[in-house]
Amino acid sequence: TKKETFTVLVSDAMDKSGLKPVLESSLVNVVFESVLETKVPLDEVDALLIRSATTVTRDLLEKMTRLKIIGRAGVGVDNVDMDAATSHGVVVINAPDGNTISTAEHTFAMLASVVRNIPQANQSMKEGRWDRKAYQGAELFGKTLGIIGFGRIGAELASRARAFRMNVVAFDPFLTKTRAEKNHVTLADFNELLEKSDFITVHTPLTKETKGLLNRETLQKTKQGVYLLNCARGGIIDEVALYDSIKSGHVRGAAIDVFEDEPAKNHPLTTLDQVITTPHIAASTSEAQKNVAEQVAIEVLGYLEGKPAPHA
Ligand code: MLT
Repeated sequence: TKKETFTVLVSDAMDKSGLKPVLESSLVNVVFESVLETKVPLDEVDALLIRSATTVTRDLLEKMTRLKIIGRAGVGVDNVDMDAATSHGVVVINAPDGNTISTAEHTFAMLASVVRNIPQANQSMKEGRWDRKAYQGAELFGKTLGIIGFGRIGAELASRARAFRMNVVAFDPFLTKTRAEKNHVTLADFNELLEKSDFITVHTPLTKETKGLLNRETLQKTKQGVYLLNCARGGIIDEVALYDSIKSGHVRGAAIDVFEDEPAKNHPLTTLDQVITTPHIAASTSEAQKNVAEQVAIEVLGYLEGKPAPHA
């Protein structure tokens, strides 16, 4: 009897070496095409692999009648309609730890860059200038970093900040005193963190609770001259409120990797000298992309073979 084969559609750019487990499996036929343009009939796809570019809507799920599992090669599943997936019996898994280090490192790089105006100074030299006065910065030493959302990435960032002798305060409703102590950070409530921090960085998923967490009202509670960082998800810091607070001089600078609407070409925040931006690349390292592709490949393949999916 002929063995059943499964169709796995890889809809976003993904690390091929990480996908080896599915590519080498005789059970699976892998197609690299966007789900919006694929020639494979949608009702023949068993598994869908995505990063953040593909949005999985209820409409799409209704057409994918054979779909069993969605593998998100990354952390955030905000680009998947989870209610619709559940109601269609589609399991959604992610790769929760494959890009932790890359994201923490990128956030730290953004922090060090924004406080010393490195991107702006670099740009000025490329434009032929030698302007030492314009780019005086500040030290991180002795300053307070407020981390909102103390999961894997928050904890890795904290240890890097401590290496630079910063004080770290963390707000996370799930953070216990023991875990805070173990990571040498001070537990704070939300308002306390806003009031004490010289730098505030968010590392939460985007949910109803975290959308606009830093908004016009809450930004007013922050220190004059605070810096803000978002390498998590667009929308956790309200973009219009951020723009206005920088214009007013209350917020001194910001480092932003993620946007409410991506791709975010010609975004208003990029017009401000005090803002440095990157195009959602915190997890874009060869190591992280290999890790997340491998994690979802192994788990999706296992699930198709009848094993449980631990990261559902
Ligand atoms: C994630 O949620 O893991 C990141 O946004 C990275 C990505 O989209 O690839």
